[in-house]
Amino acid sequence: MVLSSPPRPKFSVLSQTRRFFEEPFDLLSEVRQNLGDIFSLHILGLGRCVVFCRPDHLAEIYKLESEALAPGAIRYKLFASIVGDQISLGMDGDRYKRRRRQLTPFFGHRQMMQHTDNIRLLTEATLQGWSVGQTVQLQAELDRLALRVISRILFGDTEASIAEDLVRRAGAFLKAIKSPFVQTPFLRLPLGSLTPWGHYTACRRQLFEALRQEIRRRGGEDGGGVHGDRNGDDLLAKLTRSSLEDDPAQQLEAIVQEMAGLLIGGSETTSKAIGWTFLGLAKNPTVQNRLRQEIVEVLGRSPLRQEDIARMPYLDAVVKEGLRWQPVAPLVGFRRVERPIEIAGFHIPAGHIVAQATKETSRHEAFAQPETFDPDNHFLKQKNPLNRWLPFGGGQRVCIGMALAQLEMAVVLATVLQHCRLEISDQSTRPQQSGIAFQPTGGLPARISALTLGAHRG
Ligand code: HEM
Repeated sequence: MVLSSPPRPKFSVLSQTRRFFEEPFDLLSEVRQNLGDIFSLHILGLGRCVVFCRPDHLAEIYKLESEALAPGAIRYKLFASIVGDQISLGMDGDRYKRRRRQLTPFFGHRQMMQHTDNIRLLTEATLQGWSVGQTVQLQAELDRLALRVISRILFGDTEASIAEDLVRRAGAFLKAIKSPFVQTPFLRLPLGSLTPWGHYTACRRQLFEALRQEIRRRGGEDGGGVHGDRNGDDLLAKLTRSSLEDDPAQQLEAIVQEMAGLLIGGSETTSKAIGWTFLGLAKNPTVQNRLRQEIVEVLGRSPLRQEDIARMPYLDAVVKEGLRWQPVAPLVGFRRVERPIEIAGFHIPAGHIVAQATKETSRHEAFAQPETFDPDNHFLKQKNPLNRWLPFGGGQRVCIGMALAQLEMAVVLATVLQHCRLEISDQSTRPQQSGIAFQPTGGLPARISALTLGAHRG
């Protein structure tokens, strides 16, 4: 039987590219409605990309790793190249497998749960800066909080003044990445420090240098800290004690680049997901009230502790629903096809790219009434709902930070709702790009109508 190629839209490559950059979620939704669950787009700078919208097809794709599909190659071109060639995000094959084996234990569920108190304390510190009657830009507040959280996990055992400096440099680095001239491979023009790419590389240089200094400082005067650091229990210390690479110079670069990658992958992805979840709750007062009720029943006025999380199933369902209802990026799970594959009756030749259309997958009819924000029906009352739920991609390359992201979402949501009532005035659900993730347009302006923490409570 001769297999056909996935259908493609009739409009030009230029229109596909323009619309992909301007309104990717709408484009993917429209093309899926016209062409079905598997289709092909041609995006300049990315190439021919076969897009998948069904969880069961994606499960097949994510099983096909290694020889057939190379995620690292395409990710290097799209994102990892802005960090360097020592980062696992952009690797494939045995080199990747060795690195991932070394990194994975640091991100397990149990390890991440130990950060519950830190995340809560940082959230409470944010709330202490608010006052009743004030209107905050909630998304910007969540972005700053997420930077603090990931910084705490990555280099939180650093001396306070150095940690502050690292947070500042990390913030400047993450801000510089937001420029389309950095995000888009063919716009990265090395034309001096006044251009966005030049500014970005300066921020990267400063962050990397500060990280190198800190690694050396912890390792002692001789700089032997690359394999020898014994200070602290943050990720920097753990990576420094590990052997990502045998060669000390490469080890140093590998640690620095992995740290930069985790800052990028681990901050605004999570804060945008929390922002969308707050929006879902604002639009669905019944869901919000039920969550508040669970928080009162389990926590009362006590601060949330690690063991409380397992006693809050509705909170967990709200987190999962937030990630399902509005994913933070339109396409994820990029893989370059290395040898031809066949899937759902279609032939996909080598050289093409495959990817997951997140919103089309998570709002697929596999979920009853997929447009509604309904944690109960989509998660609590379902049998094996997680088979259909793929916000973190899948297979060997599944997001390494998924336990941390869900914990952070749960702790931030529970702590804010325990202490605060927010009225979000702009409830637009239009996604707006901000760096590598998409946030609600308008940035969630929120009036604080009640607060039980800080000097300005009421
Ligand atoms: C809500 C928040 C997050 C979402 C939606 C998200 C989503 C994703 C997705 C879709 C992938 C690609 C998976 C694939 O290709 O199959 C990924 C990979 C990755 N994510 Fe996340 N992520 C989030 C939070 C985080 C956090 C908190 C960290 C760091 C602590 C992180 C670090 C990474 C890394 C390092 C990879 C590359 C994994 C590899 O190739 O080995 N992410 N993430």
